[in-house]
Amino acid sequence: MNRRDLFKSMSATAFVASFAGPALATTIAQPIVDVSVEDLPRQVLSLNTGWRFHLGDIAMPLLVTHDDTYNAAKAGRALGAASPHYDDSAWGRVSLPHDFASFQPIDSSANVDQGYRKRGIAWYRNALKFTAADRGKHIELQLDGIATFATIWFNGTLVARNWSGYNSTYIDLTPYVTYGDEWNTLVVRVDAEAMEGWWYEGAGIYRDAWIVKRNAVHIATDGVFAHPVLDPSGPADWKIPVEVTLENAGKTAREVQVISNLWDDTVGLLAQQTTTVTVPPLGRTVTHLSLVLNRPRLWSPDDPQLYKVETYLMADNKTIDEVFTPCGFRTERFDAQKGFFLNDQHIKLKGVCLHQDHAGVGTAIPEGVLDFRLRKLKALGCNAIRFSHNAQNKALMAACDRHGFLVMAENRNFNASPDYLEQLEWLVRRDRNHPSIILWSVFNEEPMQATEQGYEMVRRMSAVVKSLDTTRPVTAAMNGGLDAPLSVAHAVDVVGINYQQDKYDLFHTAHPDIPVSSSEDTSAFMTRGEYLTNKDKHIMASYDDEAAPWGETHRAAWKAVAERDYIAGQFVWTGFDYHGEPTPFTYPANSSYFGIMDLCGFEKAAFYIHQAQWIDNAPVLALVPHWNWQKGDSVRVMACTNLDEVELLVNGKSVGRQKGNRFEMNYWTVPYVAGAIEARGYKAGKPVKMARVETTGAAVALHLVPDRKGLNATGNDAQPIRVEAVDAKGRNVPLAQDMVAFEISGGTIIGLGNGDPTSLEPEKGDRRSLFNGLAQVIVQAGESAGTLRLRATATGLKAAELLVPVVPVRAPVYQTTKA
Ligand code: GAL
Repeated sequence: MNRRDLFKSMSATAFVASFAGPALATTIAQPIVDVSVEDLPRQVLSLNTGWRFHLGDIAMPLLVTHDDTYNAAKAGRALGAASPHYDDSAWGRVSLPHDFASFQPIDSSANVDQGYRKRGIAWYRNALKFTAADRGKHIELQLDGIATFATIWFNGTLVARNWSGYNSTYIDLTPYVTYGDEWNTLVVRVDAEAMEGWWYEGAGIYRDAWIVKRNAVHIATDGVFAHPVLDPSGPADWKIPVEVTLENAGKTAREVQVISNLWDDTVGLLAQQTTTVTVPPLGRTVTHLSLVLNRPRLWSPDDPQLYKVETYLMADNKTIDEVFTPCGFRTERFDAQKGFFLNDQHIKLKGVCLHQDHAGVGTAIPEGVLDFRLRKLKALGCNAIRFSHNAQNKALMAACDRHGFLVMAENRNFNASPDYLEQLEWLVRRDRNHPSIILWSVFNEEPMQATEQGYEMVRRMSAVVKSLDTTRPVTAAMNGGLDAPLSVAHAVDVVGINYQQDKYDLFHTAHPDIPVSSSEDTSAFMTRGEYLTNKDKHIMASYDDEAAPWGETHRAAWKAVAERDYIAGQFVWTGFDYHGEPTPFTYPANSSYFGIMDLCGFEKAAFYIHQAQWIDNAPVLALVPHWNWQKGDSVRVMACTNLDEVELLVNGKSVGRQKGNRFEMNYWTVPYVAGAIEARGYKAGKPVKMARVETTGAAVALHLVPDRKGLNATGNDAQPIRVEAVDAKGRNVPLAQDMVAFEISGGTIIGLGNGDPTSLEPEKGDRRSLFNGLAQVIVQAGESAGTLRLRATATGLKAAELLVPVVPVRAPVYQTTKA
């Protein structure tokens, strides 16, 4: 069966997973395709296993003699732990993604913004074999993300240095590889003393690693740009200008045919174009093709329709390389008066800012957890994400396309010098095919934002972006200088205003032609499941009463945006809590209080507030708080609804019907009596939705709730499991704080959390206490199909057991382990 026939017989997900490397299989069962990886023109092989790890630095030997000094200055002769001859057999074994900071205890002497976890320096080593059949191929190492500075040696030669914890490193290993029985040595020294942010950044090789083998003549990494544009004057109403960059690692020039196909998963081939080019030895050739299509199904948050551009190279009647690029047809426009338009439809951006970490795993987040987080955001009614303040895992970008989010992609370092412009260029080149991306942000809150120098820097950074992509505007997130005579506002297409909501109208009046978004706002505080603030205990109540001095409550921030058509939308700081920057408290508080959800993705009251504010097409009604108080307590009850009216009943008796208030929410203060509170929501006078909160009994049992019904046996598929304490009637007990112990077989526990920002418990291991009724355990399946069994026990509670089927899939794993 050839590849194109195969395509027709496979599910889209399996197809992408088989041929394009990292793509999340959200479907549980996938066909196993009987094609050896060796048959593929491009082999994308995971290099996540086989690593040896040493925490702490290893000094290079001191050079004293001439001979030692002379030899050490030569290629292939790196010394110490960088040398192929170094004995690493005593080092530990780890798999990627690996955030070594997440294994560290919380230590009050460590950096507050890094969540009080020590980072430091560490070394990684791996050993690889290449067969005789690999000779003549182009062999590339791809390291998707290393925090923070990295030095990389291959077979004793220093092959790369990387200066940012957020961009990938692509290294052409071809000249250094030895073939046959000999091991090749890969060494990475990570300096995570270096910091690029004021949040938890993780440490180590915290994203995936890949070995990519392709023909000497091949499509360069990130070498296809195929983003559809509307073209009413063309032969069809849409066209996809396809730019392909080819490289040749061979010794002679080679003529190849470049073919681009546009595929639809159900219909099949929709368009094709072919051209012929010659690629000089050790040279690059850029070629342009064009695919056209009439009336495609448009991509949007509500209907994230994706097509696929397949670009392949043919020589001597054989396919010698192949790349699949997901693409979505959509237009975008920022209007200075009316905000954002997608496909000519007005969409208010209802967005969140996100950092990349999660409970238990730090920054080493498996795709299953990334996908879980995006599904939570969908349920929130969120349609936009600002990836503050750096480039993300590529799997996350692909997931945004699939789930339909409008993304502001952000560059980490504000700097117009060559090293840093290269980081920006890498970001745009890697991500410019994603229909989800609507904005490129070149910085966040820079002190030079209102200076001539800042303006000049942004002009240069914007020019780099435009040289690679003219279809999306450039923005910058400003926290001051809006009224300066010269600022970066004059060098960007869309001005991002962080906070400063009282300056919106002044800025708009002074600059009626500049489109504006609220690139960051809110920064309000809540502890999940807590309803009384206790500053001594570092607890913030969940009624949305308090925000940082520079921020606003969730309710006020949205109101300021919603009432102004010219503001394209908002990005709430933040969607989820994150490790580090534990505002408004410090130790023992070690994670943020800003999240609409906590570190595990459990809903705080802010979740329901935003649902009420943001969701227009379905009734929303939720009640806060729990109903387990002491007799005589006076309790403030909040209803969050998007309906016309809402009525509160306590034990069946109405305590008042109010006009629904989507900006402020609805409140009653009532004396506590055990039983139940109930809210009834009305639309046009008719009851359409009900919410009920009951007084629970004491906890009697544990309960485990999986996120997905199964796991794929890829070796790295993971999912969060919710751990609850329940009463005799199976109701979640909102105040339970029991310590839970876990036993697992058929998989591993890779992290634990409970959303308590003050918890000092480790996030690794096999036990975790519940925090206000909930905890989370993240489990990962191995490479063998079977059953993952998780058992949870706690003193005095009935144990819970969960069986998760682990289904077979085909995923090439590069075998590297020496022992
Ligand atoms: C902003 C900043 C964010 C975060 C936030 C906390 O000024 O851009 O990174 O620090 O404040 O409120």
